[in-house]
Amino acid sequence: MRTEQPRIIAVSSGKGGVGKTNFVANLALFYASINKKVLVMDADVGLSNIDVLLGVTPRFNLKHVLAGEKRLKETVVTGPLGIKIIPAGSGVRELTNLNEEQRLQLVTELEDFDLDFDVFLIDTGAGIADNVLFFCSAAQEVVVIATPEPTSIADAYALIKVLRNDFKVRHFRLIVNTARSEKEAFDTYSKLSLVADKFLNLPIDYLGYLPLDPAVKDSIIAQKSHIVLYPNSLFAKKLGQIAKRLIENPSGDPGGTLQFFLRRALRI
Ligand SMILES: Nc1ncnc2c1ncn2[C@@H]1O[C@H](COP(=O)(O)OP(=O)(O)O)[C@@H](O)[C@H]1O
Ligand SMILES: [Mg+2]
Repeated sequence: MRTEQPRIIAVSSGKGGVGKTNFVANLALFYASINKKVLVMDADVGLSNIDVLLGVTPRFNLKHVLAGEKRLKETVVTGPLGIKIIPAGSGVRELTNLNEEQRLQLVTELEDFDLDFDVFLIDTGAGIADNVLFFCSAAQEVVVIATPEPTSIADAYALIKVLRNDFKVRHFRLIVNTARSEKEAFDTYSKLSLVADKFLNLPIDYLGYLPLDPAVKDSIIAQKSHIVLYPNSLFAKKLGQIAKRLIENPSGDPGGTLQFFLRRALRI
């Protein structure tokens, strides 16, 4: 029996294409490399591609589970370093409007799904779509990624505002991606933090930044994780710092089991 509860972390953003999937894939590999058991859920219906980044090809996803064609266990794929991936894929859309029978079916599946893990990462997709809000409000922690672009900051604020006002999420942690300097990253954080403090009375926790690194694209094309290909890069160093901060300083509610998480998400 485990003694510690797994950490359930949703990674989200206001705007798409800010680096969520790349971050989640690298974070998963980092944790796996320090012997944490990692479960990743690809919950981005728009552009779900964590499987590509982790080099796995799932045959089934939550849609097959909801249709009663597959058991949840059968959809889970194993990636590098033993990372387990739930390819939620197109089934995610259905998750937000399940009928009673489907909810119960999913909970039964989960009760049967007794994978032991330390960290559960959810790549949620972007914006204030139902799916994104659904996963963020159920997770123990919400990590928002923004870039220094003004539109990205404004959209991150919009997401935080909805989660705070309509879903009572009270803890947010920010990562600034594709920053050209530490200062640019901190200025980005400060802009968001100021408005959140002023208009929502909400402090935002700064987790750190990831530098703009042209080699990130090459890593994706090579289907290799950046921190594995370039372990000495600034990107890898900053990712390691963020990963440690995240795991060592929990914010938000105490953790729970995967079952607990989905019950909360499904409001059962
Ligand atoms: N730190 C970075 N430096 C350079 N390019 C990056 C960085 N992070 C992400 N990218 C690139 O940005 C694009 C979008 O990243 P992705 O992780 O798919 O975003 P999202 O999941 O938020 O839509 C990808 O082409 C990726 O290579
Ligand atoms: Mg993505």
